[in-house]
Amino acid sequence: MNWRIPILVTFCATTALAHSGVKNPAVLARMNGMSAIAQNVKVLGTMAKGQIAFDAATAQEAAAAIARHSEASVTLFAPQETDPHSEARAMIWDNFDDFTDKAQALKVIGDELAGSIRTLEDVQGAIDPLGDACTACHTLYRAKH
Ligand code: HEC
Repeated sequence: MNWRIPILVTFCATTALAHSGVKNPAVLARMNGMSAIAQNVKVLGTMAKGQIAFDAATAQEAAAAIARHSEASVTLFAPQETDPHSEARAMIWDNFDDFTDKAQALKVIGDELAGSIRTLEDVQGAIDPLGDACTACHTLYRAKH
């Protein structure tokens, strides 16, 4: 049992409605992209814990969706948009190359998992690298995490 799985799953569940009240559609779009990433991480996390049955195709699709949404986040975050409810830090746009690298890093992990997950152990082994990729970006660029 990986001790980080419950933490990551709880994190995803409690942040699901964090974007309510957002008026700026560009901010809402990038938050929805992040929520989609979190939903797919939750699929892998609940599967890793045995709360839903292991299914390789479902896990691969979740990993592929994480990759797609992570890649898309580069475009969604490119304009420096803001909203009172946004948790994005302004330094994103001073360091957009680094932000892009961190989004691409998560995309690569998602793609690799989509092509390699065969067993429940593979799903369990995916949680740490995914969580590290979220943390690498959130620590610098998200105000609350
Ligand atoms: C390249 C940077 C980056 C990566 C990688 C990243 N995030 Fe985010 N994430 C952000 C930023 C910036 C915000 C704040 C956006 C805002 O509030 O405008 C955010 C917000 C969120 C939110 C809140 C969305 C909302 O509705 O307010 C969730 C949930 C989230 N991320 C989950 C994840 C998970 C899970 C991962 C890893 C699998 C991840 N993120 C990877 C940058 C990133």
